[in-house]
Amino acid sequence: MDNGLLPKSFLFFTLFLFIATTGVAGAKDPGHRLPRPRPLRKEKVTRLRFYWHDVVSGKNPTSITIVQGPSLNYSTGFGSVQMIDNPLTEGPELTSKQVGRCQGIYASASQQDLGLLMSMNLVFTEGRYNGSTLSIIGRNSVFHKLREMPVVGGSGAFRMARGYALLRTHWLDMNTGDASVQYDVVVVHH
Ligand SMILES: *[C@@H]1O[C@H](CO)[C@@H](O)[C@H](O)[C@H]1NC(C)=O
Ligand SMILES: *[C@@H]1O[C@H](CO)[C@@H](O)[C@H](O)[C@H]1NC(C)=O
Repeated sequence: MDNGLLPKSFLFFTLFLFIATTGVAGAKDPGHRLPRPRPLRKEKVTRLRFYWHDVVSGKNPTSITIVQGPSLNYSTGFGSVQMIDNPLTEGPELTSKQVGRCQGIYASASQQDLGLLMSMNLVFTEGRYNGSTLSIIGRNSVFHKLREMPVVGGSGAFRMARGYALLRTHWLDMNTGDASVQYDVVVVHH
């Protein structure tokens, strides 16, 4: 009888093992059918400083008036629209190393002060950001010491970008309208 016990317990053990295995497989199964979770790309924070030059005067302006506003009130210039392809440089001087261009339009959108609606794409042309862009749309109260505009998107290295730009006028020629503005940009992106 002792001999008969061994196969019986062996069979029980095998059966148990089978159930246990199917049990585990069954629990695993739904997981296999679900799409694999994509690894979350870590967000980066990038800080940039550059200078934006509005070259209105001279032989080769990068900022031209495309709509002359009907308003005769020069303190607001309400209604006028400017198209720009302005150089972005590393340092405050126009002659310093160019790092990109700022292409877009800005319009005098305020009847109370010189308040611009700016809609611009910044395209970088140097280093690891070469070819990458940032898009800015915002309000610029030109005569305020510090202005802030939202960065609403980006491409390339700046894909999924959001952030802000702080503007400080570095230099302004009241006669010609030429200006250099310091941009401090903070963006979160992938
Ligand atoms: C121009 O607009 C400003 C702000 O609204 C106002 O204070 C000023 O009197 C206006 N000037 C003229 C000449 O209408
Ligand atoms: C930036 O990219 C353009 C186009 O791919 C290339 O022609 C140019 O040499 C690059 N500039 C730098 C500084 O890497």
